[in-house]
Amino acid sequence: MKTVLISGGRGLIGKSLSRVLRQKGYTVYKLTRKPIKSSHIYWNPEKQTIESKYLSEIDIIINLAGSNIASKKWSVDRKIDLVNSRVNSIDFLKKSAEKMPNLKYFISASGINCYGYNGPHEKIESDPYGKDFLSRLVKDWETASDSFSDVCPVAKLRIAMVIDRRGGALKKIMRPIKFGLGSPLGSGKQYVPWIHIDDLCSMFVYCIENNISGTYNAANGYISNHELMKTITKKMKKPFFLPAIPKGILKVFLGEMASMLTESLKVSNEKIRKAGFRFRYANFDSAITEIVKK
Ligand SMILES: NC(=O)c1ccc[n+]([C@@H]2O[C@H](COP(=O)([O-])OP(=O)(O)OC[C@H]3O[C@@H](n4cnc5c(N)ncnc54)[C@H](OP(=O)(O)O)[C@@H]3O)[C@@H](O)[C@H]2O)c1
Repeated sequence: MKTVLISGGRGLIGKSLSRVLRQKGYTVYKLTRKPIKSSHIYWNPEKQTIESKYLSEIDIIINLAGSNIASKKWSVDRKIDLVNSRVNSIDFLKKSAEKMPNLKYFISASGINCYGYNGPHEKIESDPYGKDFLSRLVKDWETASDSFSDVCPVAKLRIAMVIDRRGGALKKIMRPIKFGLGSPLGSGKQYVPWIHIDDLCSMFVYCIENNISGTYNAANGYISNHELMKTITKKMKKPFFLPAIPKGILKVFLGEMASMLTESLKVSNEKIRKAGFRFRYANFDSAITEIVKK
């Protein structure tokens, strides 16, 4: 069975994905700045350091490394960190690939928020990048990933909001709802693309096992913010009566980052379905039922 190296593998997606891969028989090593297990390999892209153990065994790289987009307001310095932690770490990974003679495949996380907002149609992968900060970030991130194409096939998954009870956006959304404080954000009419963590992990595995290359929207679908909040609140058996939090207030607290919550984005998942991938969760209701049940 093949050996996989996951950069940023100790984060939310990496934890589930490594579990799925190990269950399927893959050997998984994680690149991390804070190793605590024997399967962790220390690296620090900023310092251009990497431990060389296991690198000669690597067949596949899954790149998930990058500072968390939603954990802090986007100051000028923060924006630089969001870009550098992705682009520079891929550049360093590419240099380190010299120590991986067996490397056959590179797949990287990318972001769905790359098309700009509020267009009337579902965005497909060949649509142009938007002009906002996240769109420019994704463009640089994907260009860096493409540098691997002179070594092996490259795939990029433009990941939507990940639905996972263990962390990320959903955990943050569920917190006020637990206290009976669920309400829509902004107009509530804006669409939010989403993906269940199980479907995302299956999509990574599907791409690896079918040697899929290119760029793919990774989203089960999209849902209006009002419907999303209402569905989660209902499943948690909590009240949903509070007025929407106005966009202006969100902007005061979150700055430019508020755009991720208040602006609308519709995306198509037809390309990955045409490549043969089948989603497990057909709609948000079934995905969230499974999460809340746990
Ligand atoms: N979760 C989502 O909803 C979502 C949606 C769209 C796209 N994505 C993208 O998918 C990737 C994985 O997401 P995630 O939710 O698993 O993220 P996460 O939980 O924040 O984990 C990201 C990992 O990146 C590593 N990292 C952070 N800063 C770094 C730096 N300066 N240099 C090198 N490594 C660094 C960290 O690993 P160590 O601390 O162990 O080094 C961390 O565990 C990210 O790039 C994210 O932007 C996620």
